[in-house]
Amino acid sequence: MKKSALYVTVSVLCAGLPLGVNAAAAPDQIVTALENKFGVYPGERRNHTKGICFTGEFQATAEASALSRSPLLQGAAIPVIGRFSQAGGNLHAPDNKPNAHGMALRFTLPDGQLHQMAMLDLPFFDVATPEGFLQKQLATGKPDPAKIQAFEQAFPETQRLKQALAGQSRIPAGYHRLSYNSINTFILETADGKSTPVRWAFIPTEDKPAYLNAEQAESLGTDYLLSRLQTDLDSGDIRWRMELTLANEDDQLTDPSQPWSGPHQVITAGTLQLQAVDTAADADCRSINFDPLRLSDGVKPSDDPILQARSPAYAISFGKRSQEANRQD
Ligand code: HEM
Repeated sequence: MKKSALYVTVSVLCAGLPLGVNAAAAPDQIVTALENKFGVYPGERRNHTKGICFTGEFQATAEASALSRSPLLQGAAIPVIGRFSQAGGNLHAPDNKPNAHGMALRFTLPDGQLHQMAMLDLPFFDVATPEGFLQKQLATGKPDPAKIQAFEQAFPETQRLKQALAGQSRIPAGYHRLSYNSINTFILETADGKSTPVRWAFIPTEDKPAYLNAEQAESLGTDYLLSRLQTDLDSGDIRWRMELTLANEDDQLTDPSQPWSGPHQVITAGTLQLQAVDTAADADCRSINFDPLRLSDGVKPSDDPILQARSPAYAISFGKRSQEANRQD
């Protein structure tokens, strides 16, 4: 069957979705939708465009090594290149407005493998499927309440995150004050083949307020996150504790819009220490594609369709920006 015929069939089967909504969104469609919504900054990422690179070091605890054979979790000191970012494709996204924020990490493991993570400061995701992600970009390009309402009706799961964040400012006091979550589920594997589904989080070890209210943020201007990070690093250590939350029997492993609620076993898996902020405008990590499916042996992706869609979308964005950067040289 031709791709277009398949899409029409699927659309018809998906009763309840607005006209034109398909069950599966192709990664190139998603990247095009991001480009149409935010515009294109040649040589830059199509999402999480504004960001700051850093270097750091990670060291796992003995508890973590009991759950996975990954060299990431055996306790060696592991060098890290990372990037903090504002969600969305606006290179000039104002720091003092509410948004979601990212922390991406590339670990270079003792045996030469690379292991990557790209997390958000959200407790869980707004949509359950790549189609929801695509339709959100299409509905929110130009403010149109009718389109947004149709999107929210077609993807009712979005209400869950909306309600969880209601009343929160989401304007960061600093990238280093935020907790970052894997949101998607991953499967840890031991040398003897025991599997444990987990979600992970990086939580600042210093307990300071993570977000500012609008008045506090107004006077800081639109670009305070870099200087705040640098100033706080100059005056003390910045660290995150990595926590692994182990799935309960009835937890959703393939839907990132569903939080794992109630009591869970949580393990302290390690510490990430920030070492230096790269003030030379994105220099070191410009050439990195923080594909979250680049994982070391001992950590596997779940079948979450959002997680699976991220890898091809990041590759398309990376391919485009690399080509553009080469053309500029
Ligand atoms: C279908 C869902 C998603 C799509 C299509 C998508 C797409 C993208 C794209 C195209 C990029 C730019 C990649 C590059 O040029 O290097 C990106 C960056 C990023 N995404 Fe996603 N994303 C999705 C879901 C998520 C989720 C669930 C998370 C977190 C749990 C996340 C966290 C990030 C972060 C932190 C970055 C910035 C990485 C960097 O600093 O280079 N994304 N995303």
